Amino acid sequence: MLKKVAVFASGNGSNFEALYQAQENGIINIDIELLVCNKKDAYVIERAREKDIEVYLIDYSKEAEEDIENKLVTKLKSLNIDLVLLAGFLKKLGSTLISYCPIINIHPSFLPKYKGLNAIERAFNNQDKEIGVSVHYIDEFLDNGPIILQEGVNVEDKSLEEVYQMVHQLEHQLYIKALQIVLEED
Ligand code: GRF
Repeated sequence: MLKKVAVFASGNGSNFEALYQAQENGIINIDIELLVCNKKDAYVIERAREKDIEVYLIDYSKEAEEDIENKLVTKLKSLNIDLVLLAGFLKKLGSTLISYCPIINIHPSFLPKYKGLNAIERAFNNQDKEIGVSVHYIDEFLDNGPIILQEGVNVEDKSLEEVYQMVHQLEHQLYIKALQIVLEED
């Protein structure tokens, strides 16, 4: 069944782009209706606007988290959103949103390793031979919740820049694969 999706992202948006392209190519049965972003200069906003996807900007410095979440849930309901995908949204969500619909996140590590920021750098600095990517349902804890898929890439003898590229490429594929699994189960 077609899922109406809101993507939450606050950065470059390469995962947002991968999700959109997979939708357009009929690889996953989703319809991205909304981008939620908390950084007004994020490049992902440009990506959304050029695709005519509505952008919903939030500012955690101006409003209480609970108010933001209540308004967001009203917005999601008005669009009949039934799945939220996090793609580099640098803010932990609260229970109001979490209880509204399933929320899936992508994180560049073999969770539960390297939760939080700068996961790729931390794995690289630890000289890990393999760096992972996890796609998981979220819960109320940071980078936590049931894993849908995990895969790794061998990064031996690679520079940090190469590692970034390799991990991002893996992310773009793994997010789609994980969603195929989720949507098939539905
Ligand atoms: C990705 O590494 C994702 O795993 C993490 O944030 C980053 C977002 O990258 N949660 P992009 O904005 O999709 O390029």
